[in-house]
Amino acid sequence: TYIIAEPCVDVLDKACIEECPVDCIYEGNRMLYIHPDECVDCGACEPVCPVEAIFYEDDVPENWKDYTSANYEFFEDLGSPGGASKIGKIEKDTPFVAAQPPRGE
Ligand code: F3S
Ligand code: F3S
Repeated sequence: TYIIAEPCVDVLDKACIEECPVDCIYEGNRMLYIHPDECVDCGACEPVCPVEAIFYEDDVPENWKDYTSANYEFFEDLGSPGGASKIGKIEKDTPFVAAQPPRGE
């Protein structure tokens, strides 16, 4: 799977959503999360993120490894919705992401 990391927090550019052929990038309060079971590793989202927040799972920088867990954790109570557009924004973040200091200008 691909993972969204810290640069997305409080930015939520959403260019990635347009690219995903399986609609597996879900919106939380402060960032977006890729569903690890629904992502087909096409990689289309990665180059379009203007803040370079998206990485292949094995390539997530060491200091952002907590975001790998966050992308998995986000879906623990959601299961596999099978499409982000039909459920829209999800009013939560993982505790790790919720605890991040505010980012952005
Ligand atoms: Fe976030 Fe980049 Fe997508 S900022 S919403 S991962 S385009
Ligand atoms: Fe979608 Fe990106 Fe995975 S475009 S299928 S989330 S690699």
